[in-house]
Amino acid sequence: MLENREMLQDIEDVLFTERQIAVMVERIGKEISRDYQGKNLLLISVLKGSVVFMADLMRSITIPARIDFMAVSSYGSGVKTSGVVKINMDLKIPLEGYDVVVVEDILDSGKTLHYLMELLQGRGPNSIRVCTLFDKPERRETDVQASYVGSQIPDAFIVGYGLDYAEKYRNLPFVGILKPEVYA
Ligand code: IMP
Ligand code: MG
Repeated sequence: MLENREMLQDIEDVLFTERQIAVMVERIGKEISRDYQGKNLLLISVLKGSVVFMADLMRSITIPARIDFMAVSSYGSGVKTSGVVKINMDLKIPLEGYDVVVVEDILDSGKTLHYLMELLQGRGPNSIRVCTLFDKPERRETDVQASYVGSQIPDAFIVGYGLDYAEKYRNLPFVGILKPEVYA
């Protein structure tokens, strides 16, 4: 951990340790394995934030699953999403016949997922649901619902385990609350 000093000095508190995250991911993997038994499961990871979660989650799923990736960015700098979503990389797989689970890092205002769900729904999958590691329900501005949630969290800006601020801190193995003065 000492090698992380440069990033650690920007962290106010550890919100979830590696161990706590592993327990949440394992639980979600079990839920998905149970619910999608006999179905045609396709996991769609929304890059870049969900890359670490996806890598762990797919290995905790015990039924056959395909994976694909989509890269999006929402305009708006700093810690807020504008709702205008740009597709930087699209899926390689047509969605017809698949039972899709969209894997997200965090559900905040819900604007990003609201846009994505409309887009993906329009491509005619069998079914589509949302799986998010973290959820900030207080901040919701749309009606997006997640079927699988690792943990609800309070309204704070968190980083690590894939989550960034200005592309930094994604490689921290735990999830921490970023000191407000870092983004103020
Ligand atoms: P929404 O569109 O407002 O729901 O924002 C979703 C996206 O904003 C996530 O996929 C993240 O990229 C980013 N985001 C929201 N809250 C946080 C946070 O606390 N830490 C890091 N990124 C966040
Ligand atoms: Mg981000």
